[in-house]
Amino acid sequence: MKINKWLATILMLVIAISGLVAIAMAAEAIDPGAILDKANLKNGESIYNTGKRAKGAHLAFTAGPNWLHVEGGGCAECHGKRGWGNTMPTFCTTRTPPVTYKYLAGNGYPFTARQDGSHPVYTMRAFKTLMRAGIKSNGYEADFCMPRYRISVDELRDLMGYLIKLDDD
Ligand code: HEC
Repeated sequence: MKINKWLATILMLVIAISGLVAIAMAAEAIDPGAILDKANLKNGESIYNTGKRAKGAHLAFTAGPNWLHVEGGGCAECHGKRGWGNTMPTFCTTRTPPVTYKYLAGNGYPFTARQDGSHPVYTMRAFKTLMRAGIKSNGYEADFCMPRYRISVDELRDLMGYLIKLDDD
């Protein structure tokens, strides 16, 4: 009898904890509606296409190929105007992955350019870590070709807004 009670208690705990984990994970998922509500899409588009904010200032970054430092340019330079990737940028050794919302956060789209496994769904937190520190959602360090940007949380939201919009095309 006693053992049964223990088992029941442990089972309840396990169920409660997994419930909390599920809630926490759902709360982390990117909510396109909430992003689009607040995102400044003009700014996101400008960063994506030119590497400059809508107001004109360049985003600073480390890593990335030398020509990007010299000539400037945005995400589109490597991931393509429509975000479909699959290009081999000059002096890079890795093909670019697609980066629109559905590829990053859709149902576990299992593609990364490199041979390091599928990538788990991107949350805004994972997106921030990738964009600033170059660590992908699968925990691997991104190739040097992918710049590490100095980008604010608001700007990351603007950019994600534009990556959501790119799926409409
Ligand atoms: C000079 C080329 C270049 C530029 C510019 C660039 N990227 Fe990348 N990006 C890459 C490459 C190459 C990879 C693949 C890295 C790897 O898998 O190791 C990558 C990876 C990524 C990933 C990871 C996707 C995954 O499957 O895990 C995201 C997200 C991303 N880039 C978004 C952006 C955004 C947003 C910008 C603009 C602010 C940008 N990139 C600018 C080359 C570039």
